[in-house]
Amino acid sequence: MSAEETLILVKPDGVARGLTGEILRRIEAKGYTINDLRMVTASRELLVAHYEEHEGKPFFEPLVEFMASGPVVAVRASGNRVIEGFRALAGATDPTAAAPGTIRGDLGRDWGLAVQQNLVHGSDSTLSAERELSLWFA
Ligand code: TYD
Ligand code: MG
Repeated sequence: MSAEETLILVKPDGVARGLTGEILRRIEAKGYTINDLRMVTASRELLVAHYEEHEGKPFFEPLVEFMASGPVVAVRASGNRVIEGFRALAGATDPTAAAPGTIRGDLGRDWGLAVQQNLVHGSDSTLSAERELSLWFA
C-alpha cells in the first residue's frame, strides 16, 4: 500500500513573512515526506476551484483575493495519516485560538482580518486531497 498524500499550502502571509522554511521544517521534523513542491502565484480560477466548498460564504471573495495577492508554496506531502497529522500540526483555523505548539498557534495571530491570514492550508479528507493535488500539481 502506498502512503497517503495531502496538499499543503504555505499561504501568501507565510511566504511574505519568511516562514516557508520553518513550516517545511515542521512537516519534515514530524516525519512526513515532501514529494513535490512549487511556488506559484495562483490564478483566481485555480483558487475558486480550490475553495469551491466555501463559494457563496461571506469570506469567500476576500479569501480568494488574499490567496491571489502573492506567491504561495504548494507541497505534496506523504506519510501514513498525513492528512489528519498535518491538520493537527497546523492547528485550529483561528490563529488566535490555535494551540501553542501548532503552526498557527506558534506563528500566527490576528492581523485585523480575524482568521483569514492563518499561514497554511491542509486538505481535510482523502477526497479533497486527491482533488486539490490534481489542481495544484496538474
Ligand atoms: P476552512 O476550510 O473552514 O478552514 P481550514 O483552513 O482550517 O480548513 O476555511 C478555509 C479558509 O478560509 C481558512 O483557512 C481561513 C478562511 N476563513 C475566513 O477568512 N473566515 C472564516 O470565517 C472562515 C471559517 C475561514
Ligand atoms: Mg478547510
